[in-house]
Amino acid sequence: MNRSEFLKRMGLGTVAIAAGPSLLTSCMDHGMGGEAPNVVDGVFNNPLKVPETINGTSALSAQGGMETLGNGGEVSVLGYGVGLLGPTIRVQKDQNVNLNFTNKLSEHTNIHWHGLVIPAAMDGHPDHMIMPNESFNFQFPVIQQAGTNWYHPHLHGLTGKQVTKGLAGMFIVESEEEKALNLPSGAYEVPLIIQDKRLNSGGGITYNPTMGEVMTGFLGETILVNGTNKPFLEVESRFYRFRILNGSTARIYNLALSDGGDFYVIGSDGGLLPKPEIVKNLLLSSGERADILIDFSNVKEGKMLYLMNEKFSGMGSAQGDQSFNIIRFNVRNSENAEFILPTSLIPLTNLSGASKTRPFKLTMNMGQNMSGMHQINGKVFESDRIDETVELRSTEIWEFDNTSGDEAHPMHVHGVHFQIVARTGGRNTIVPHERGWKDTVLVAPREKVQVIMKFEQLGKFVVHCHNLEHEDDGMMLNFKVL
Ligand code: C2O
Ligand code: CU
Ligand code: CU
Repeated sequence: MNRSEFLKRMGLGTVAIAAGPSLLTSCMDHGMGGEAPNVVDGVFNNPLKVPETINGTSALSAQGGMETLGNGGEVSVLGYGVGLLGPTIRVQKDQNVNLNFTNKLSEHTNIHWHGLVIPAAMDGHPDHMIMPNESFNFQFPVIQQAGTNWYHPHLHGLTGKQVTKGLAGMFIVESEEEKALNLPSGAYEVPLIIQDKRLNSGGGITYNPTMGEVMTGFLGETILVNGTNKPFLEVESRFYRFRILNGSTARIYNLALSDGGDFYVIGSDGGLLPKPEIVKNLLLSSGERADILIDFSNVKEGKMLYLMNEKFSGMGSAQGDQSFNIIRFNVRNSENAEFILPTSLIPLTNLSGASKTRPFKLTMNMGQNMSGMHQINGKVFESDRIDETVELRSTEIWEFDNTSGDEAHPMHVHGVHFQIVARTGGRNTIVPHERGWKDTVLVAPREKVQVIMKFEQLGKFVVHCHNLEHEDDGMMLNFKVL
C-alpha cells in the first residue's frame, strides 16, 4: 500500500501529513500494508451443516475440536461442542434458562448472551472470567419477545480471536404470539451463521490482525455458513424462513438474491418487525441479525440461485468492493404448500419521552501506542472505570457520532433493546430491517445515529463497537444502571 492509499484508508488525508511522517512510518513498520484478501469463488457443493438444537436447561462447554474447513483435511478449531460453533439454544418466552457452562480451553473465557436482556451478573461482562476447568451456572429468565439472538465470549482483548476460532452459537426465543403467525418452521426454518475466515494452506483458521487490520477489520477470503465452506441447501419450491446472523468480526454483507429477486424481512435483532418489509438488499454488519423469508415457489427446478453479497460502498474502503456468493439453493419442485404471508407481525409501540440525550463520539486516533486507537468519547476501555451512569427505568436517547471518514462502527448496547430514532449524514435514512427492536446498529462513516431505549436491568454493562478488532482495541465503555 502506498502512502496516499494508506492515508486514504486512515481517513486522515492531509491532517496526517501535518502530524508528521514519523507516526506513518511507525505504523507501516508495524505490519500495515496489504490489501484485504479477495473472497475466493468456487463450486458450492458442500451440504450446509445445521447446528444441533438444545433447550435452555442443558450443559455447554467451550472446548477444542476438529473440523474440515478448507482443502487440507481436519484442523483444530474451538466450539461449544465437538466442532466449530455451538448448538442452537431454543427457549420459550418466560422460560428460565439454566445452563451449566464449563471452560475446557487452556485460557479464560466467558459467555455473553447477545440480544438477551438479563441481569448484569449473567451478561458476560469482560470482568467475568471463567478460568480453565472452571464451571459457571448461567441462570436467568427470558422475558423478551421471540427473536434470533446469539452467544459468544466477551473478554477484553480476546473476543475477536475466540469468536474467529469458533466460539459462537445461536439463541432463539419462541413465543405463542409468534406461533400464531404460522411462519415456516421445522425443516423450513434454517439458521445461517455467516462468517469470513482466513485459512492457512492446511485449512486452519488464522487470526493475527496487523495494525492496519485493526482499523480496516480482519477480513477473510473464505466465507463459511454454519461452518460450511461453499455450502448448498436443497429447498422445496415454497416459502422458507432464514435466521441470519453476521458472526464475522468485521465484514459487512449486502445480502441479495443472485436473480435480483425480492425477499421479505420479518425480524431484526430484537425480534419480529411490525410488518414484513419487501427488499432486494439488506446490509448486515457484525453482530446484527436478520430474519427473512424467501419464496422459492416460482423458481424453476434446477436453477442456480444464490444468497450473495452484492458490492456496496460508503462503509470504508476495505468493505464492499467485491460481489460474491454465500450459499447456493438447489430448488426442487414440490406440491405448493399453502403459505399466506401475514400482513402484520408483532405490534411495535414507539418509545418516547427520553429524559436526556447522551453523546458518544466515535474516533480513531493514531497515537504513539500500537493499541487503543479506537476510542469512544476520547477514552479506551478500562474495566474498572464507570463511564456513564443511568437511572433505572429511565428512557434515554444515545447518539453515536462516527467522525471517521473510513471506518464503519456497528454499535452495540448490552442490557437493553433500542429503537432507531434518526440517522443523519451518510445514508440519511432508517433502513427496513431497522424498523423494530434492535441491539446493534451500523453507524457508517460520517453518520450520526440516535437510538432510544429504556433501562430495565440494574448493574454494570458495556456499550461497544461490534467490529471485534475495534472492540478488542478498546472501543468499549462501561455504563452502570443505578
Ligand atoms: Cu455480541 Cu458485547 O457483544
Ligand atoms: Cu451483546
Ligand atoms: Cu468500530
